[in-house]
Formats: sequence, structure tokens, C-alpha cells
Amino acid sequence: MSIGKRGRDTAMPVDLNNAQPLAWDSATLDADTKAMLDELQPNILRAHVREHLSVLFVRFNDVTEGRAFLRSIATTKMKSAREHLREIREFAAGRRRGTPYVGIGISKAGYRDLGHSVEDVRRFGDPVFRDGMKRRTSLVNDPPAAEWERLYQREIHAVILIGDAGAEPVERLRAEILAELPDSARLLGEERGQGMRNPAGDGIEHFGYVDGRSQPLFLKDEVDKEPKQHWDPAFPLANVLVPDPFAPDPVRHFGSYLVFRKLEQNVRAFKEIERDLADRLALQGTDRERAGALLVGRFRDGTPLTLKPKPGGGPVANDFTFDGDDGSRCPFSGHVRKTNPRSFGRDVLMARRGQTYGERADDPWDDSPPEHRPSAGVGLLFMAFNASLVRQFEFTQRSWANAPDFEAGGTGHDPVIGQGRRAVRVAFPEVWGRPEPSEPQAQVDRTVTMMGGEYFFAPSLAYLRHL
Ligand code: HEM
Repeated sequence: MSIGKRGRDTAMPVDLNNAQPLAWDSATLDADTKAMLDELQPNILRAHVREHLSVLFVRFNDVTEGRAFLRSIATTKMKSAREHLREIREFAAGRRRGTPYVGIGISKAGYRDLGHSVEDVRRFGDPVFRDGMKRRTSLVNDPPAAEWERLYQREIHAVILIGDAGAEPVERLRAEILAELPDSARLLGEERGQGMRNPAGDGIEHFGYVDGRSQPLFLKDEVDKEPKQHWDPAFPLANVLVPDPFAPDPVRHFGSYLVFRKLEQNVRAFKEIERDLADRLALQGTDRERAGALLVGRFRDGTPLTLKPKPGGGPVANDFTFDGDDGSRCPFSGHVRKTNPRSFGRDVLMARRGQTYGERADDPWDDSPPEHRPSAGVGLLFMAFNASLVRQFEFTQRSWANAPDFEAGGTGHDPVIGQGRRAVRVAFPEVWGRPEPSEPQAQVDRTVTMMGGEYFFAPSLAYLRHL
């Protein structure tokens, strides 16, 4: 079925709040929804493959040339969300491989440099976007911008994402796009993402844990594949889409706010923390793996800690809630419990589209000792699409991850991403599911460092093509 309407002759022909997931390939899909998908960037409603990823940060300096550059990229190198979804279907049917992904995000400074007045930029409803990330550091407890990597201290106007399953298409497109960059513009810097997988084939992050399993799903074909006895993975489009204020037809042309944060991971320190916590709680044998799961909320193989005392094997479960778990199975501070408590706050959940960066010589999923692990140079290029940065990304970071009293008093910061002084003492369950906790102890040290970032808006293709 198609996304619904708010009645005839309505000013908002595409209803973003429809609770039914979008049947994008239905024969009865209405023209307005088709137009929406034809003008929407890919990777927002559904993740695009980006095992190899180049992230280019650009500054324009000339209105006409900046506009012409973006218009040309959009016209010749970008596909729409609908084309992407068709490619996925073709690939699944064994017919052909998809094409690479090119995505564009523009910062508030970028919009101004492209000739939009300060007044105009106020049409973006999100105050966090209008501030930019540098002005938000003290609110989010980030390091001050002066301590960020130099690239991020500069005024970034646009980010260009180029992703594919293979390295070659990314290199080719990257070279083509850079060749088009006008003399007046500057390539300020680049990040390279590189996906990592465990032996089961699941995508993992540098601490060795399966990542990207839990996502808000917007499309019927994705939702249909998921069991949903306990947790409903279907979300309305309003969780990620907002009208593109500068598009020719903002009631059919949508965009999404993109948060980008480079988060360096000290893997060695994290592995030492896991080992020391296992020792302090006197965990034995396979139960030692629970130490890391107490911090993340899932075992390395992705099994939710609230479901099982030991990793379970098999497909990575996402059909669960924390109902009935008073913290004796999964602590309230566990990263996945902090960032998605599941019994409330559904409208806070973002569409995460990050990628790991940095080369390493060891296997991230195995049991090698901490000394063999990298302490710098690797991490996560955290990216997520939001309908509201203030209600989603910043709320998650500030009011949940950084708040030691959320969701229960004195339970501590999110041990993975919590920012700020970790002053409270915390206790952990020594035995899975047994309510008596350990002696309170200092919270684990911070092992993730924010190196810089920016807030962008991923505009509609219609906007970019009309520049
Ligand atoms: C280096 C930094 C980070 C690491 C290592 C990390 C790691 C993980 C892992 C292993 C998962 C479990 C896999 C899954 O459920 O999909 C996860 C889930 C999640 N993370 Fe992170 N993460 C990081 C940064 C962040 C940030 C900055 C945020 C937002 C402020 C965030 C929000 C989430 C959310 C919302 C989930 C899904 C929870 C759920 O729906 O159950 N993460 N992360």
C-alpha cells in the first residue's frame, strides 16, 4: 500500500506520519510518493552499501561555481532513493550489481555560501542545524572545537559521500568528482571508511561488536523480514524526513539532517577495561565475555545481554525489549539500552549510517590480548539521518548517554559514548539476572574521543538539480 494522504486537495500530499511502512514497489503507489522517492537521496530510508567509503569535505567560496558544481554532481552522478531500491531488488534477484552511492550534505555555512541569506537559512526548523556543531560543544560535553582535528576546525560547506561494495568504483567516482571541483572551491580534507566483518559475515565496529543491527525501518519489504513479537522495527517517514525548504516543491521534495562525528576508539584501553571488569566481577570461562556486554548491552556476536547470559550464536536478534529487566541482566547504562530504551522514546531513534575507519593488523573479533590492539588511528565515522537533530541525535547524546541518572539514579554514563566527568560510582550484576549487584566502583574510563564533526542537511535531488 502507498503512504496515505491527509485528504483531498491537501497541502501535504505525502503523509510522513503514516504508521504503515512504505510499500515503495506497490503497483498502486501514488504519484506523489513516487515523486518523493524520485527526488530523495539514497541511504536515508534504507542503508546503501558503503564497504568502501570516501568522505570529502568541501568549501565553495563562489556562489555561481559552487552551485554549478553541485548541480553537475547531482545531475550526472547521483541516483534517487527509488533507483537505489530498484537496484537492491535486481541484485537480490541475481540480475545485476548496483551502482555506487553519491550523497551530498550541506552545512548552514554552506547554504549561506551558496547564496541563501541568513533570513532564508532560518527556514530550516532545526535550531541545532542553524547553530552548527562547533557552537554546541559545551551543551553536548564535546571537547572544544579548538581541540578538534584541524579539518573540522575549519568552515565546512559540504560533505560528499561516495560509497560502494568495491574499492574501484569509489576511486573512479572520487577522481571524477574532484576533477569537477572548481578552482574557487577547496577540498578541505577527506576521511576513508572501510567496513569490517566478523567470521559470521556481520558488520562490526572496532571494539569487535556487531553494529548496525538495530535500525528504524521505513520500508515494508524490510519490515516484513523481521520478527516483531516484542519490538516493532517499523517507523514513520517523519522520523527521518522533513520538507526541503529550498526545493521547488517542498511538499514532495524531502531531505534529512545528517550528523557527522569522527569518533576515535582506543581499542587497547577498551579491551583492558573489559578484562579488568571481568576480573573484578570474578567472571569465569565463557561468562567473562559478559564484561564487555555489560558495557555495550550486546555480546560481540550481537546477542542482546538482556536475553541471554552467554552469547547465543545464530542470527543477531533485534526482537526484544528491556521489560522486566531491572538492570540485573543488562545495566541501564549499557550503550544500546541508553541509546534505545525501547519502552519509550521511539521518536528519538535515528537512522545510523556510519562506517568504521582506520587500518589494523589484528582481528577485531578474536580474543587477542589488549597489547595487540590499536590505541589510536581507528574509530567510527558516526553518521545518522534525523528529522530533528535537537530531538534525536543531541537528545540521545545529552539526555541519555551523558546523563548518569538516566534511566535509573546513579547508573552512570554510557560507557561507550558518554561525554563529561564520570563522577558517580556504579555497580554491575555479578551473576546474570541476579539482583544483588557488585560493590560500587568508579565508572570505566572514556575510550571514545570526539575528533570533530558537523551538522549537514541532505537536500532533495530536486534542489540540487535546480541550483
Ligand atoms: C565509537 C562510537 C560508537 C560505538 C563503538 C558504537 C557501538 C554500537 C554497537 C556495537 C551497537 C549495537 C548494534 C546495534 O544494535 O545496531 C550500537 C547501537 C546503537 N548505537 Fe552506537 N556506537 C557508537 C556511537 C554511537 C553514537 C554517537 C550514538 C548516538 C548518540 C549511538 C547510538 C546508537 C543507537 C541508537 C544504537 C541502536 C540501539 C538499539 O536500537 O537497540 N552510537 N552502537
